[in-house]
Amino acid sequence: MTEYVKIIYGDKTIELPVITGTEGEKAVDISTLRRKTGLITLDPGYTNTGSCLSTITFMDGEKGILRYRGIPVDQLAEHSTFVETAYLLINGALPKRKELETFSGLLNDQSLVHEDMQNFYQNFPRASHPMGILSSMVGAMRSFYPALQIAEEEINITTTRLISKIRTMAAMSYKISRGHKVVYPRPDLSYCANFLNMMFDTPVKPYHIDGDIVRALNVFWILHADHEQNCSTTAVRVVGSGRVNLYASISAGIAALWGPLHGGANQAVIEMLQNMEKNGLSANDVIEKAKGKETSFRLMGFGHRVYKTYDPRAKIIKKMCDKVLSKLNIQDPLLALAKELEEAALKDNYFVEHDLYPNVDFYSGIILRALGIPTNMFTVMFAIGRLPGWIAQWKESMEDPDWKISRPRQVYMGKPERDYKPIDER
Ligand code: SDX
Repeated sequence: MTEYVKIIYGDKTIELPVITGTEGEKAVDISTLRRKTGLITLDPGYTNTGSCLSTITFMDGEKGILRYRGIPVDQLAEHSTFVETAYLLINGALPKRKELETFSGLLNDQSLVHEDMQNFYQNFPRASHPMGILSSMVGAMRSFYPALQIAEEEINITTTRLISKIRTMAAMSYKISRGHKVVYPRPDLSYCANFLNMMFDTPVKPYHIDGDIVRALNVFWILHADHEQNCSTTAVRVVGSGRVNLYASISAGIAALWGPLHGGANQAVIEMLQNMEKNGLSANDVIEKAKGKETSFRLMGFGHRVYKTYDPRAKIIKKMCDKVLSKLNIQDPLLALAKELEEAALKDNYFVEHDLYPNVDFYSGIILRALGIPTNMFTVMFAIGRLPGWIAQWKESMEDPDWKISRPRQVYMGKPERDYKPIDER
């Protein structure tokens, strides 16, 4: 039975239908509001506004629940691989063995990057941020891989091409930035093992593939694979809504993720911890600064628009830190600092009252440091993980019969009408 919301405005009383989601979430459908009342809604940052109906990811911010296509993320982290989770997000169900073999085969076939694209890297200034390079390279892919004739085949090939090549391009960018020889993908290595090998193998010191480290990278990317309508996914959907190709939409998503309030936070957390270590700052020094309004400084890796409790991904990553560091026999002083900061923040009234908890970015940098990933590539690692989610969300919007070009309204607060004045009269 449909529920309704009644709006009384002036001499008008209208009813708007309430939509109920799978898990009982309620939304007022305001698509007829302006036509019936002349009113629009205003919601900066879209805190209270849903942009779409989606079947991909479910989050419950109060209970700290995250599920991909109905499967809890902790089960996927325990039992799945990143490639299998990517298939699940994009196709809606876990693959059968044959389907997984075909998908993995396509990823292998698509793992090389056009040789001419290597020239691009040579011309970026050496100090360029890897996220800027990645966004440019993905946008440039359209020029190297024009549309196929058959739409369905185009999407499937483009999907595996992007997922496979983003990993190769990231490793290539790292090697070239260091003046090292590019390492090519190998057909005998898994998706994650190939990435690590392309990053760290050198002619004089072959990279040792450690199963536990490959497993940690799979889990890291599984945990980053999707997160419903976050900033960068919204960018992918908005850019895609103009019916532009997938590469351009993903390039926009990478740019949006770069921001320190979003995916760039994993790099900002490590820089915050390094600053604490370098300047001998205590956890309370940092927390007091984060609470103050004198600066825009915030406790990076803390807080979330949706989670008002511990981010379920942060719990898993925090546990993984201890496992990976002990496996690699690494004592990272920043981990101890991070734990000290978390403990102090979770006891602080301001953080408790504002429901501020560690999010996915708070501990992820510790793992990436242990793997040998340079700090300025941390958000690239986030982007590689998020790519299957972006693709799934883009695909869902393209296939949505009710999907329109994204074009929000506004409330004009500028000058009333006035005439043009010749320059000598101003
Ligand atoms: C990601 O959306 C997603 O799902 C994103 C993500 C994904 O997987 O895609 O989960 C990935 O981006 C995680 C978030 C990474 N960013 C950070 O860690 C940066 C630090 N966090 C904050 O900037 C903030 O918490 C946000 C941006 C994450 C969320 O901000 P909101 O929801 O817009 O909340 P807000 O800025 O309106 O803050 C509400 C209050 C404010 O205080 P008052 O003005 O009400 O007194 O909480 C305070 C804020 O000042 N606050 C913080 C804080 N986060 C919020 N104060 C200090 N430190 C913080 N980290």
